[in-house]
Amino acid sequence: MPGLTIGDTIPDLQVDTTQGKIKLHQFCSDTWTILFSHPGDFTPVCTTELGKMAQYASEFYKRGVLLVGLSCDDLESHKEWIKDIEAHTPGAKVNYPIISDPKREIIKQLNMVDPDEKDSNGNLPSRALHIIGPDKKIKLSFLYPATTGRNMDEVLRVVESLQKASKHKIATPANWKPGDPVVISPDVTNEQAKDMFPQGFETANLPSKKEYLRFTNV
Ligand code: BEZ
Repeated sequence: MPGLTIGDTIPDLQVDTTQGKIKLHQFCSDTWTILFSHPGDFTPVCTTELGKMAQYASEFYKRGVLLVGLSCDDLESHKEWIKDIEAHTPGAKVNYPIISDPKREIIKQLNMVDPDEKDSNGNLPSRALHIIGPDKKIKLSFLYPATTGRNMDEVLRVVESLQKASKHKIATPANWKPGDPVVISPDVTNEQAKDMFPQGFETANLPSKKEYLRFTNV
């Protein structure tokens, strides 16, 4: 299904949230933002996800990442639901705004519709998550079905990867974790790499003898 995807600028929508009206571009300002959607209020997996996001919020804020949730129900429902979320996840305070989208217009514009999940008002949101860069473009998207809750460790891991790759000409290899070596981007020559990475780098000795797999630490 075509729709908003990585590389696209998020639309500057005005939305109603549990913390008042916001305009998305103004909210995102010039920092990183995670915009994540949920099928509905008072549903089991969503309740655990919003609680976990609240528990991890300080880790995101430390990295300059703002959070904004979305569920299609109305604001009164969201405010009641927050009490359940906080009760279920001890220590969690839902201090990020949650967008309400009872008409299901916002989820269409943000490519967050689950074609398989419907209620009497139409399609529900999927478990979509966009990581938006300081330039307001989508840098990474998750798209999960209602039956699969997201892993906030993975969300944090990919934020760290994106932020490192935005500062250095590097990429993060399979199963990378913060602190592990990274790989130097293929468009960087060995000569350039010596200047860019004075800490040094190691080139994997591959049967092809092509020197494209180079590890360094940043
Ligand atoms: C849930 O959050 O648990 C859920 C929501 C919609 C469909 C299935 C599960």
